[in-house]
Amino acid sequence: MKKGIMKKILMLLFVVMLLPISSAQAEGKKGLLVYASVYGSTIETAYWIKAIIGHENHLDVKSIDQVITIDPYDYVIIGSLTRNEGPVKPVYEFIEKYRAKLAQKEVAYYLTCGDSDETMVLKIPGKAAHLIGGRNYLKDQMEKYPKIKPVAIAGFGGRQVMPNLGTKDNIQIWLVGKLAKEGAAWEGLDIWESLVKERVEVFANEIRTKILGIGPRENIEELRGYWTSLQPASLTDASKKKFSPKPSAEHKSSKKIYYARSRAMGDLALGENLLKQWAEDNGIDLKEQVKTSFNIYYHATKNYGGEPITSHLVIATFPDEIGNLQIAFRCWEKPDVRKGMEADITKAEELLWADGRKID
Ligand SMILES: Cc1cc2nc3c(=O)[nH]c(=O)nc-3n(C[C@H](O)[C@H](O)[C@H](O)COP(=O)(O)O)c2cc1C
Repeated sequence: MKKGIMKKILMLLFVVMLLPISSAQAEGKKGLLVYASVYGSTIETAYWIKAIIGHENHLDVKSIDQVITIDPYDYVIIGSLTRNEGPVKPVYEFIEKYRAKLAQKEVAYYLTCGDSDETMVLKIPGKAAHLIGGRNYLKDQMEKYPKIKPVAIAGFGGRQVMPNLGTKDNIQIWLVGKLAKEGAAWEGLDIWESLVKERVEVFANEIRTKILGIGPRENIEELRGYWTSLQPASLTDASKKKFSPKPSAEHKSSKKIYYARSRAMGDLALGENLLKQWAEDNGIDLKEQVKTSFNIYYHATKNYGGEPITSHLVIATFPDEIGNLQIAFRCWEKPDVRKGMEADITKAEELLWADGRKID
């Protein structure tokens, strides 16, 4: 073969070998979204997030069982359904296995869950009252792996398709419904969707801006079809709605609970100051139980007729309601002994809502 032709072939081979490298560099950061799902809602949110991030940006979406290494990726999004108030075991095992490597990468956590209200306090027999719902379910995972510092976290809410739940799951959900002091939102529904669509969008846009540096996606509403469908909430009652979030304004007094839920314009710092003032003015012992970047949970205790009565109080901010403070009071004492506390809760609400801050 002539020397000139040989040289041209070698040059061509060299260019061909270089091609994949240069196109990979042009793609920018490489992401992995790994999910755990039982009934499929977490998978739908995974592909919805991928669509918001944009197909032009590299993001592998994989079931947790399909992953053997995270080495090729610059960032990892870990999505889980919620069971028993947290991400499922395979997600913990995945994080445990790759903990050292995840600590070196950009990471984001999200959950689908039934309860997306981050002011929710659960009191069930045999367990102290505690925060649940949305991002509260990620607390344990984040405390177990403090070296992994997620750039974004989210609790979206989720979907339950009642007639298709497995027998064990069905019994558990029925039991949870019986224990729910404020009522079970899924009662009478075939499909219950609690997902707050804006939370998926805020989360995916955080990945775009904080990790990829490409700014939020335009026309984001066009992608909501990943979640919405023509399936009705109930096959027998067309009036029932699939999406039934817990009301953000509610006052309930039953034998089991005094529950006051409302919203005011403001942030956590304002809420904290006003509640301290309320406690001081009314002789209430206000003890902080949990403080995160998005909520504060207090026990507010006072003696009424010689008996100490405690109300469980949470203020929170949600990613889908910028500038609004979410407020919830719960008192599980009997109606006749909690009267004084009910009056004090009303005073706290008046203070939080004052100066035109109340949101109806
Ligand atoms: C047996 C069972 C237990 C659940 N436990 C919780 C829970 O503790 N907290 C919560 O908010 N949601 C809970 N959920 C709701 C699921 O997390 C939610 O429906 C989720 O969207 C399901 O995701 P998947 O479709 O990907 O499996 C539970 C659902 C089932 C069936």
